[in-house]
Amino acid sequence: MPVGLTGKSASGNRFSGLRPRIAVLAKKLFIQTYGCQMNVYDSARMADVLAPHGFTTVSKAEDADAVIINTCHIREKASDKVYSELGRMRLLRDDLKASGRDLLLAVGGCVAQAEGGEMARRAPFVDIVFGPQTYHRLPELVSSAFAARARGVTGAGLVATDFPAEAKFDSLPDAATAIGPSAFLSVQEGCDKFCTFCVVPYTRGAEYSRPVNAILEEARRLVARGAIEITLLGQNVNAFHGDGPDGAPWSLGRLIRALAEVEGVRRIRYTTSHPRDMDDDLIAVHGEVRALMPYLHLPVQSGSDAVLEAMNRGYTADDYLKVLEKLRAARPDIALASDFIVGFPGESDRDFEATLDLVRTVGFSQAYAFKYSARPGTPAATLADAIPEEVKNERLQVLQNLLSDLSLNFNRRSVGATMPVLLDKRGRHPGQLGGRSPYMQAVHVSVPTDSAPHGAETLVRITNAFAHSIEGVVAAEVAA
Ligand code: 5AD
Ligand code: SF4
Repeated sequence: MPVGLTGKSASGNRFSGLRPRIAVLAKKLFIQTYGCQMNVYDSARMADVLAPHGFTTVSKAEDADAVIINTCHIREKASDKVYSELGRMRLLRDDLKASGRDLLLAVGGCVAQAEGGEMARRAPFVDIVFGPQTYHRLPELVSSAFAARARGVTGAGLVATDFPAEAKFDSLPDAATAIGPSAFLSVQEGCDKFCTFCVVPYTRGAEYSRPVNAILEEARRLVARGAIEITLLGQNVNAFHGDGPDGAPWSLGRLIRALAEVEGVRRIRYTTSHPRDMDDDLIAVHGEVRALMPYLHLPVQSGSDAVLEAMNRGYTADDYLKVLEKLRAARPDIALASDFIVGFPGESDRDFEATLDLVRTVGFSQAYAFKYSARPGTPAATLADAIPEEVKNERLQVLQNLLSDLSLNFNRRSVGATMPVLLDKRGRHPGQLGGRSPYMQAVHVSVPTDSAPHGAETLVRITNAFAHSIEGVVAAEVAA
């Protein structure tokens, strides 16, 4: 078992006999979310789970009765933040206590899953430590923590880190929190790929796909509440193989075709995918389903076959390029995005050059580059040939500069084009609204100052391009 993983906590079942009810009193909940879109989705569902128990969400910890920190373990930097954030919350709790209020502190997500009881020991002032597969049990956990408070115990240290995901999805209530026009829908969780650098198979568990009917029902509910864009989420979403209504497993391609038939669904995206699971049908769907946006995040991680093999990615650089070729044949304007890791153990200058070559060959519209960070319990953490920090920094800089140049080029090619944008948030500056283009570019649009973000697509003429965003003016509302 990987180091740092507590597995099924003994206390996972300790509280299961308690009634999952909290006296319905108005209580305020603040959720601090770190990490990926899956965590953003999970945080919204945590709020949904607690809403029937009297919790409404607030935007500041200072105003809350309970705080949940939803953590990310993917890289060292991300998980380091947790304990400093916890320290901050502890101080806040002490301050609030002086004014007669008692803040409940819960830690969820992947760091909580990985550390489990260890976190409860290291931060004994924490009330609840729960994993990504147990948040449907929050009502009973919160109820127990409040009951402990009533007995004068602060820092109840309840730990719930059991698996698997099925139980959670079966017992989640309908979404109750506000949603915008663009909604996430989790269809798949966990991963069986075991890339040697990655903690996900340990923190999120084995791969699990939700049944198709449950997904389509959730999509209809999201549409009824104003969503017109749905992003299907999964750690390895294109490995989706949920049971279809016909009893047979459905692929992601088939699911997308069915989702496109749901009335009101105008835009579909999915993230994030593995090159190995990019099958021909899914590629064909990119050419056939108009609602599927012309953008794909397909992390390659490295352009060197030796590094890819050491990472256990299961493909070569050439295999990856062939997949992209097919995608571009199906949907010529598709924008391609990726993730890269630099400084994986043993990565030579030549290996790194191969990554730069691949990047130049593909011409990504956007991509994220990370320095390799050893994650406890993963196979790569025990590899020799660690790359010195200064070499990692240098490579990161070189790669990020190249990626920025490419995304600036991509964005410049949009200038003069008119495209439908979902202006669902306030822009960077006053008098601006923000949203995403079909190609996933961040778009800022100047509008009359009283304009609010809204739920329809707007046709925007692009006037300006930057490395990480584009700017435009409203051309027209898009007819529903
Ligand atoms: N070190 C650096 N980057 C990592 N990623 C995942 N694990 C690590 C790690 N140990 C990156 C990968 C992945 C993205 C979500 O995070 O590029 O695609
Ligand atoms: Fe992690 Fe993605 Fe590899 Fe799964 S496929 S182990 S989530 S990097």
